[in-house]
This record gives sequence, structure tokens and C-alpha cells, in this order.
Amino acid sequence: MLRTHTCGELTIKNIGQPVTLCGWLARSRDLGGMTFIDLRDRYGITQLMFNMDTHKELCEQARKLGREFVLKTTGKVSERSNKNSKMPTGDIEIIVEKLEVLNESKTPPFTIEDESDGGDDLRMKYRYLDLRRTPVRNNLLQRHKVAQAVREYFDANGFADVETPFLIKSTPEGARDFVVPSRLSPGEFYALPQSPQTFKQLLMVSGFDRYYQIVRCFRDEDLRADRQPEFTQIDCEMSFVEQEDVMNMFEGMVKHVFKKVRGLELPAFKRMTYTDAMKYYGVDKPDLRFEMKIVELKNLSPSGGGKGEDVVSGKNFKVYDDAELIGGICAKGCAEYTRKQLDELTDWVKRPQIGAGGLGYIKFNADGTLKSSFDKFFDEASLKKIAEKFSAKPGDLILILAGAEERTRKALGALRLEMGSKLGLRDKNKFECLWVMDFPLFEWNEEEKRWFAMHHPFTSWKKEDEGLLNTNPGAVRANAYDVVINGVELSSGSIRIHNRSQQEKMFKLLGLTPEEANYKFGFILNAFEYGAPPHGGIAFGFDRFCSMVINNEDYIRDYIAFPKNNSGRDIMLDSPSDIDAKQKKELGLK
Ligand code: AMO
Repeated sequence: MLRTHTCGELTIKNIGQPVTLCGWLARSRDLGGMTFIDLRDRYGITQLMFNMDTHKELCEQARKLGREFVLKTTGKVSERSNKNSKMPTGDIEIIVEKLEVLNESKTPPFTIEDESDGGDDLRMKYRYLDLRRTPVRNNLLQRHKVAQAVREYFDANGFADVETPFLIKSTPEGARDFVVPSRLSPGEFYALPQSPQTFKQLLMVSGFDRYYQIVRCFRDEDLRADRQPEFTQIDCEMSFVEQEDVMNMFEGMVKHVFKKVRGLELPAFKRMTYTDAMKYYGVDKPDLRFEMKIVELKNLSPSGGGKGEDVVSGKNFKVYDDAELIGGICAKGCAEYTRKQLDELTDWVKRPQIGAGGLGYIKFNADGTLKSSFDKFFDEASLKKIAEKFSAKPGDLILILAGAEERTRKALGALRLEMGSKLGLRDKNKFECLWVMDFPLFEWNEEEKRWFAMHHPFTSWKKEDEGLLNTNPGAVRANAYDVVINGVELSSGSIRIHNRSQQEKMFKLLGLTPEEANYKFGFILNAFEYGAPPHGGIAFGFDRFCSMVINNEDYIRDYIAFPKNNSGRDIMLDSPSDIDAKQKKELGLK
């Protein structure tokens, strides 16, 4: 080894010891008689001290070094006169006796500090430099720990890690596939897997019983903070299980990881049906760190049976009279919101991403009076009736949205999160873990005018809903379950279909002809005829799991060593890119 110690380990106990360290020049300070250099490596930072009186030549050499030069230095550990209690090595410094430049560096394009001055694109282009920054590097080292904890849990519970192929067949259902042209079969394509779903099921048919894999998946879909085109799943499957067994096993895994990585004991996960999640939180992944439940004032939508609650119609207020769904939230202590604040919120809900037509409000003033944005139509008694539905107190602000059911629920859900953030209710130190269950089996796709599987086509339906499959597919519930933590969908899973005729029925309901079903999924239909055991499983988004466990956030890019940007490009490699004519010809492409 070129070094005796790392830059993160020397303390007061090492005083007097001769040591050799290697690392990068993070910062230097020239104080006339003395020069200080902060030497950085993966493990930390150690201060080097050069003395002009005793080592003039060395000191002059040190003053000429630039940021990010790679150095090897030998000296004695000494107690600092000016200690820094924030650093593990802050009590000591190295009095340098020998200095060697192992490599020079150009001035980096941005400062390599915890808070960098580099913009996103610049840091992505020089990702290897960005990874020298402590917060980003620590995220990746913690990611390694999460993976270790996951493997430890699965190993202890008898799960076998089995690899599945990356060059598979294109069977898009949901996201688009990434495809790979085949040279040996010109004009034909492989697809990269969106998940190893069918393979893990085949492994159950093979009798592997308990499988897991930390595996890369590929989806050509629009990107967001919590989505990358290639991402990693902790993919799992078990045989001879019921829903409850699967949920217990993987709740155990999440708890094990939080304990190992964060030292946190998570309580038993809460449980909620999909219907309740949508009704009270406006999303299928509620953030339960704060209450602020949605209250319905009118629900004449089909899901409310067309005759639900209505305490707002009949006041000659056309917007409310015409609305299918009217709901609101109560923001505690916000009655003092100014005109400007309310206008800002109104603009916020009207943005295309939220899509509300406008924002109604009722201020429950501290003196007990009520003031609303629709005073023209509602007298004080009617406003009071509404306020009671929210259990509002003096000082509270009720925010109301109205319109078509689906859009209004979604908008209310988004507004709830926005108010939760504004009021500081989304506490970084809190973890609220939840199972969302009883998802619908299908969702209607208006564009294609057909049913899509809400989870995927291999998910089984609730036995008691079987009668509705032909008459009212939208009402059939799936044996599907998601883990949600603080409003982030961490994983999705289900009990699978394991019988050919049921799987064929599912494909038929999804609009596939028997020929199409056979062309795309013949392999699994056939496998189901050779003794497929009952089975079920789940897949966790590993990148999301890491960002959640490590820093309680949903922005996953900082937990991936070499991520893509928002347009799916790798800025460092400048990819995707053209390929040369010869390659194209070989692949039969124009
Ligand atoms: P699903 O499609 O819900 O289920 O994916 C499982 C989990 O993977 C994560 N995830 C993503 N993470 C980052 N970027 C993406 N583009 C992305 N897409 C999904 C999410 C999600 O909950 N085969 C089924 C699982 C099963 O039934 O066992 C599946 O893939 O955290």
C-alpha cells in the first residue's frame, strides 16, 4: 500500500506517530509562516501543515499545488492548536516532512464541496468529480449497506439469488420497452426487461420456492424525480403462500433494513384499502406523516353511487351545482392567509399538472366569523355547516376543489401534499409505513378504449369478485398490495394467477386474441400446465428504497452512481448517440 492510514482515521491517540497518507487536495490556506492543506479521500479529511521556518522548500512546493492534485505525504501526527470538533480528525494535523505529487489535476469545473456551485448538467457531465463530494459518495456507500442488509435478510430466510436474462422478448404492457436489434436474426429485436416478472414465476414452476434478485430493469417512460429509464428492483417471489404470508415476509425485510442501516425500529405497518386511500388522500400512496384528510362535500360520481353526500348544491352557484365531486381539506391555523397567498395557491392548483378550475376557500376567523370566496351564494349558517364537516376551529382555513371525480381527487391529493409541505408537516425524521391493498384489477384506458391491468396481467383477482369479471370488470379487486412510505410507492406485489385457463381469461379481458396471447405469452401459459404451484411476490424499487432509508426523500438520482438526466440522456457519455453505418448495416437497420 502507498499509505499507512486513510484520511479519516487519525485522532489524538495517534499523536507522535509517523504516517503516510494519500488523497486529493481539497483546499489549501496560506498563512505566511504556515500553509495548510486539507487532504481528502473516501474516508474523510485530514489537515496537513507545512512550516515555512523548518521546511521552507516543502512549504513553497505546497503553495504551488492546485485543487484536486493527488498527493502522497509523510509526516508526524501532531495535536492541533486550533481544534475542529465537527471533524473526526479535527484534533490533529500532520506536520509534513515529505510530499510527492502522484498526479496533477486541471482546475475542476465546479467546487468539490458538500454544497457545490455546479449546476445539474455540469455535475452530470463530470459525474466522477461529483462522486468525490461527500454527500453523494456517502449515499452510494449507504446504498451498498442497504443491499448488504437486504441480502442478509433473504439469505437468513432461505431465498436463493437467481439471475434472469436481459435480452428477452418485447411484450409491452404499461411502459414502453427498450429494444435491441439482433444481428443474427436481421429485422428482429430483443427487448430489455421491464422487470423479471415472468421469469420469477417460471422459477416458482421450477420449484425454487423462494427467489430474490437485486436486478436492473428498463422502462422507456417519461422521467420524474423518482423514475429512471434503468433502475434497480429487489425482485422477490415465494411459492405456497397467501397474501398475508407475503406481506409479513417483506414487511420484515423493510424493518430489518431500517434497523441495520438507520438503527430504527419501525412499528407494524398500517393498512388501508385503495378505495380509502383515494377517498381520504386523493392518491394511492398517501403520506401519513400528517392527517389533513380530504372531506367530501358532494359526491355524485359513479363511485359514490351517484347519491353520495351533498351539502353544497342548490345555492345557485353553478360551479358547485354542476360538479361531480366537491371536496376539501382543512389547513390548521391558516385563516390569516393573505389575498396574495390565496392567489398563489389558486395559481398553483390551476397549473396544468394539477388541472383544477379554481380554488374555493372558507376562512374560520379567530373571532368565530366565517368568510368565504363564495359569500355571494352561501349565508353564514351554510358556511358553518360546511366548516363542521371539517371539524374546523377558529383560525383554520378550508380549501375546496370541485369538478370531475378523478381529476378533483388527484388535485385534492396534490393540494394536501403542498399544504403539508408549506406547514412543515412532512417531517424528515418520521417514517409512516403503509400497505395499500385491494387495488382494482383493471383500469380503463380511454385512449385505447380497453381495460388495462392496473398492476400487471399476472395478478389474480379476489375470489369473491369473480362474478363481476364479465359484468363489471372495473369493480373487480386484485390480490395486490403496495408498500408506501411517506407518500412514496416503494414496492408493488400480488398473488399470481397459476393456472392456464384463468390466465387465458385475463388476456381475453385485456383484449388479446388467443393468437396474440399465445404469441406473446405462450411460454408461461404452457408452463402453467406442468404443475405450477400457487405463488406470489413483490418487487421493491431499490433506488427509491435507498433514497427513503438513507435520507427520507424521493429524488433517486443522487443514489445512483451514473444516472440519466430528465430526458433520459447520459450527459457524460453523450448517449444515446448515432452508430456508424457499418454497425447499422450488420443489424439490418437504415
Ligand atoms: P412495478 O412496476 O410496480 O411492479 O415496479 C415495482 C417497483 O419498482 C419501482 N419502479 C421504479 N423505480 C425507479 N424508476 C422507475 N422507472 C421505476 N418503475 C418502477 C417502484 C415500484 O413500486 N413485476 C412487478 C412486481 C411484482 O408484481 O412482483 C413490478 O415490476 O418502487
